[in-house]
Amino acid sequence: MNSFLKRNPTYSKYDIDALKIPSHVAIIMDGNGRWAKARGKRRIHGHAQGVKSIRAILDFAGDLKITHLTLWAFSTDNWKRPKYEVSFLMNLLEKYIDNEKANFMKNRIRLRILGNLEDIPVKVRKKLKTLIEETKDFDKLNLNIALSYGGREELIGAFKNISDKIVSGVLSRDEIDDHVIKSHLFTADIPDPDLIIRTSGEFRLSNFFIWQSAYSELFFSTVFWPDFRPEHFFEALLHYSQRERRFGGIQ
Ligand code: IPE
Ligand code: IPE
Ligand code: MG
Repeated sequence: MNSFLKRNPTYSKYDIDALKIPSHVAIIMDGNGRWAKARGKRRIHGHAQGVKSIRAILDFAGDLKITHLTLWAFSTDNWKRPKYEVSFLMNLLEKYIDNEKANFMKNRIRLRILGNLEDIPVKVRKKLKTLIEETKDFDKLNLNIALSYGGREELIGAFKNISDKIVSGVLSRDEIDDHVIKSHLFTADIPDPDLIIRTSGEFRLSNFFIWQSAYSELFFSTVFWPDFRPEHFFEALLHYSQRERRFGGIQ
């Protein structure tokens, strides 16, 4: 933790050694539209500003040696939004990949996409697939971007694939257990999130990580995503460190 404090002296007043570092933090990046509205600007301005929050959070997660970070960028239900907003978001994603590629390579960040990649416009999809391939052997930080992701849709897909295996005799009904279901999710080889943070003051999961969140600690921040900075992330980690996780047992 000393190297962390050297880079981030602001936190030296805290008992850093008492901080429990979760292996996997997932963030529901919410509030871009309201951030813009509060400034008399169009919603898309909030999305553009929101991208700027990502780099600082990513660097900070790396400093803290968090191994898995999931950022929910776009839900299956977000396709319902006006066309111009959706295409703005897709363009933003493309620009993000172009601008951040060097950072992924330099800091050995492995990119994974959770969600239906085939829903994403072909030009962006190709860039995403290339970066996924180029970073697949990196292990410093696993960055999962949830894109066209919905928890129920993920489960429906898993149940269909499991049914196919039963019908073809590859799997028997009695073999279905939590491991089998997990192995059919986008997060098959990713640990369940220890901590889920939602920004913008909404107290709901909105169809996020339905299966994976069974024992996640939840933290709700009132800060809109474009204003979310490492100090807000740190506050969530302080809360997380004080939680007693029992997983149904007794302490
Ligand atoms: C989160 O911000 C980004 C996406 C869902 C794509 P919103 O766009 O939901 O912003 P609010 O919640 O309307 O303020
Ligand atoms: C959830 O936020 C999706 C993302 C942040 C990417 P929404 O803004 O879509 O969720 P609701 O509509 O407030 O529940
Ligand atoms: Mg929202």
